[in-house]
Amino acid sequence: MAPGRAGKHVSLGAGKFIIPSDPKGFQDPKYWDQFFASRNSAFEWYGNFLESAEVLCRYIKAKDDILVIGSGNSELSGEMYYTGLKKITNMDISQVVIDRMTKKYRDICPDMKFVRDDVTKMSTIKDESFSVVLDKATFDALVADDSQVSEEMAEKICSEVDRVLKHGGRYICVTLAQKHVLNQLVQNMANKGYAVRAHVINVDSPEQPHDVVFCFVFTKMKPGFPLILDMQLGQAEKLTRCDSVAQFLRRVKEHQHVQSVARCLKLGRYDVVEGEQVKVFDTKGTHLYTLYPFKPSVRKPRFGATCFIIPPGRSKSYLYGTHEGRREVSQNISAQLVMFADVVGASKGTFSFQSVKDDLTPHMRNFCPSKLFDSLVFLSDGDFPEVTEQSTEDEVIYEGTSLSTGPYRVLQRPAPGNSLYLERRLIFEDSPNVIQTEMRLQKPLPGSGSLLPIFDKEYLPSDYQRCIVAAVLNHRKLAAPVQEDTKMLLVGLGGGILTSYLHQVFPTSIVEAVEIDPAVVEIALKYFGLQISNRCAVHVADGLDFIKQAETGEEKYDIVIIDADTKDPKLPLRCPPVEFMSVIMLRTIKRLLNPDGMLIVNILSRQSSAATQIRNNITNVFGNTLYMSPLDDDLNTIAVALHENYYPADCGGECLENSLRSKSKEALSYWLENLRCFNQMMDERTGEVLLDGPMWWKRVDVNFSIPFLIGCTLQEYVDEHIAATSGRNGQETDSPDSTTTAA
Ligand SMILES: C[S@@+](CC[C@H](N)C(=O)[O-])C[C@H]1O[C@@H](n2cnc3c(N)ncnc32)[C@H](O)[C@@H]1O
Repeated sequence: MAPGRAGKHVSLGAGKFIIPSDPKGFQDPKYWDQFFASRNSAFEWYGNFLESAEVLCRYIKAKDDILVIGSGNSELSGEMYYTGLKKITNMDISQVVIDRMTKKYRDICPDMKFVRDDVTKMSTIKDESFSVVLDKATFDALVADDSQVSEEMAEKICSEVDRVLKHGGRYICVTLAQKHVLNQLVQNMANKGYAVRAHVINVDSPEQPHDVVFCFVFTKMKPGFPLILDMQLGQAEKLTRCDSVAQFLRRVKEHQHVQSVARCLKLGRYDVVEGEQVKVFDTKGTHLYTLYPFKPSVRKPRFGATCFIIPPGRSKSYLYGTHEGRREVSQNISAQLVMFADVVGASKGTFSFQSVKDDLTPHMRNFCPSKLFDSLVFLSDGDFPEVTEQSTEDEVIYEGTSLSTGPYRVLQRPAPGNSLYLERRLIFEDSPNVIQTEMRLQKPLPGSGSLLPIFDKEYLPSDYQRCIVAAVLNHRKLAAPVQEDTKMLLVGLGGGILTSYLHQVFPTSIVEAVEIDPAVVEIALKYFGLQISNRCAVHVADGLDFIKQAETGEEKYDIVIIDADTKDPKLPLRCPPVEFMSVIMLRTIKRLLNPDGMLIVNILSRQSSAATQIRNNITNVFGNTLYMSPLDDDLNTIAVALHENYYPADCGGECLENSLRSKSKEALSYWLENLRCFNQMMDERTGEVLLDGPMWWKRVDVNFSIPFLIGCTLQEYVDEHIAATSGRNGQETDSPDSTTTAA
């Protein structure tokens, strides 16, 4: 029984009844007379004697005078009588039930008494005449909510219980401990100086699967005795003490929540609790784990239950720190139940995947139906072990604090598998698993006289950076046999790796980088070898303001690169901040570009809809757009938006529009092949392929949105081209639009 489900038929063990439309209807004696008049058999609230006996028999002895308040037609008193607890007085407001119960037990329990009385003014009961007052569901029924009427009702019940109890006597209340009950009952009795204890009763079929039945024991102490608040909520647990009523209530509520989720999960009701946050505490109240259950919708799950341990440091990321992110991850796990576990109460470096697994296993038993628990699998993502302990080979080069991103460290270690090089990385403390910047350094060569490593500015450690450069290489001015001055604007400096690379590798480049965080600029200059020159400038500014300001001036750029990230790791769109990709902003960027200009955007989104919106905006504003995805397991996509006048530099001097207008298959074919076979760069010293154009360009989606073809759509044109080059007969399609994807 719980208030708020008014007017509904509720099935409770022994039968059905209708909850009054106003929960306060339980306070009306007429309701109860009707209730009992319509049923002959016992109606048991919150379980029977057997289920609560373990706790009750700890606190009720044969010598006790027991008053059962709101006894109804429960068989609890009769069962207690048979076990030797014979001094029982049952009280109820309903004359109907008192008459019936008196008749039922007259012969079989001759010493048991039944009185009609009101629990809020027990006129038939003398002061301090009972050593136990037992209440099963009556306080819950009469204190319906947190209204003033209920508050007064709670006060009256507690005062009357206090009046009739002897010193050292106990008020034992079996309750669902709803929030309002908890606050009014516990606070009231604590104010009266009672010692408080909380236990949990395991009721097999409570009314609702998520209901947890508590048994509070309030012991009447001598005035002035210090307040004692104890609890023993798990069967195997020891009694633990709380410092304050607030702490006691918080722990009860937390346990209630954990158990209600566990019950639903055990009953297979994963849908009811999907995504709920469940905090797991140790017996001292230390928060150990936060768990999030999910039910992926997969047809034939491979696993029963899985526990996905969130790698340390990743719990604030979109994937693991948001409901949407976790749901996305859970969808990729073929299991009936996925339980994400965020490790909270262990300090970094003191735990490993195995230690968390060992620790969590007993908790998972509480949450999984037994057949799923038997096949429980623990998962994490690949980099879990790496971040639990800092690599012993990592040397801390510098530690500092940025005003916008907080503490950071610059670390250095030998490059794995290459004795000639070192790796230097920038790590922010709030995302220790994300390498913000990485640079390769060449160790000083023996006999070179230098002790310092040299920054290798011609090496790009990330595939996404290589993709950006693969696109840059296609700019007409850079791909021409004699390179021309090429003005580049790069929003988002980071450690300056890309800025240094563009400056170093393209001697005709003039690079301007914009960075919002002055600390990052300092790090790039001090620890990552960035050098300011007449071809390389850095502005400390918000990129949005810089672009708007630049539009008012004369300056135009050949290439604009947006490689800025959002500062909130919980956003699904990590790069770029969404404001850069509004149609208005994209138009501003387009106006900032020279006629054959190129916009390159690093997009990192965990949510496909956010990435699609960006792609649509870019295509709407720019028309021709290429998209490259760097590698299968990488989430970055590089968007390359081409100004209308752009054409691949190596396209025989014809612009793209002309080559398509001519309807020449050869021109188009040449153009597509050209894109695919472009950009191969080797490191001459090591023979390493630095840029593998064909590898990326094969993975390019091309969106054309300029319907400049006459007589046929571009879709038809490209379809024909693809059919011809793949050896099939050309087939006309009747696509309704002019947007084409060719890969
Ligand atoms: C939720 S039932 C609990 C019955 C029983 N304790 C059990 O566990 O099955 C609440 C009981 O309190 C009784 N009751 C309601 N108002 C009362 C009042 N003011 N004084 C005494 N009994 C009351 C009802 O008649 C009913 O029997």
